[in-house]
Amino acid sequence: MTADNSEARGPAVRGFFDPATATWTYVVWGEGDNSCAVIDSVLDYDPAAGRTSTASADKVISFVESRGLRVEWVLETHIHADHLTAAQYIKKKTGGKTAISKHILDVLKTWEPIFHNAADAPPNPFPMNGSQFDHLFEDGEAFKIGALDARIIHTPGHTPADTSYIIGSSVFVGDSMFLPDVGAGRCDFPGGSAEDSYDSTRKLLALPDETRMYVGHDYPEGKNRRPQCMATVAEQKQANIRAGVNIQKSAFVAQRRDADRGKPVPELLLPSLQVNLRAGDVGNFIRIPVNRI
Ligand SMILES: [Fe+2]
Repeated sequence: MTADNSEARGPAVRGFFDPATATWTYVVWGEGDNSCAVIDSVLDYDPAAGRTSTASADKVISFVESRGLRVEWVLETHIHADHLTAAQYIKKKTGGKTAISKHILDVLKTWEPIFHNAADAPPNPFPMNGSQFDHLFEDGEAFKIGALDARIIHTPGHTPADTSYIIGSSVFVGDSMFLPDVGAGRCDFPGGSAEDSYDSTRKLLALPDETRMYVGHDYPEGKNRRPQCMATVAEQKQANIRAGVNIQKSAFVAQRRDADRGKPVPELLLPSLQVNLRAGDVGNFIRIPVNRI
């Protein structure tokens, strides 16, 4: 499926692809309903200039406004390491509650010593209790987007806080799985686990075969296709190159460790973590800890 399609049944979905970070942002709503959720938004960032831009987020906001939708939730699948979230900007412009898994508390603990969040009294600290988000989801928590039923499942591995959102007949998996010809997210960040990642892919593949799985990134380079965002669970089971249903855990883990060995750090890792741990509050400064990672 490409960015321009929406679905005839189940939730309606509009995807927005950011080529700079290969990120998919989604607007999800129930047909005939005007409440929506925005999942994994992008705040554009030029690291050389230390300058943000809201061009990507404004496209999402324009779409929401053009459809007469009301943003009820601004959701994150995890603390991203490759792009800044526009959650605060979108919330300011459209309203809605920001939310993420409660396992962000573990991620905060991991990164606090590196960013010296409290000890150095930086200009823009991140609260350690997660209060920068309006809501922290419990594992398995059910919630509503208008009349749509939604539920979260904890799908750690890429990071300890990865969450997938089951919304109607679709699931939004962030980096827990990618499209069949790409595989699944890296597991070499602090707190990442290839074993957990495999177990999470089994949870996702246990969903009904017809479930539409929307991924957090796509990397079509060298695959002779344009960026796409969705495959069904049945397609993932049959064809996912790293995590198909016939791939054993030991093979998945070995291949994951091999692929992650020596993998470059994402260009926006340090700015992304700081801003995303503040739920998208850019503040006035982004710090670069030296020789810490
Ligand atoms: Fe990620």
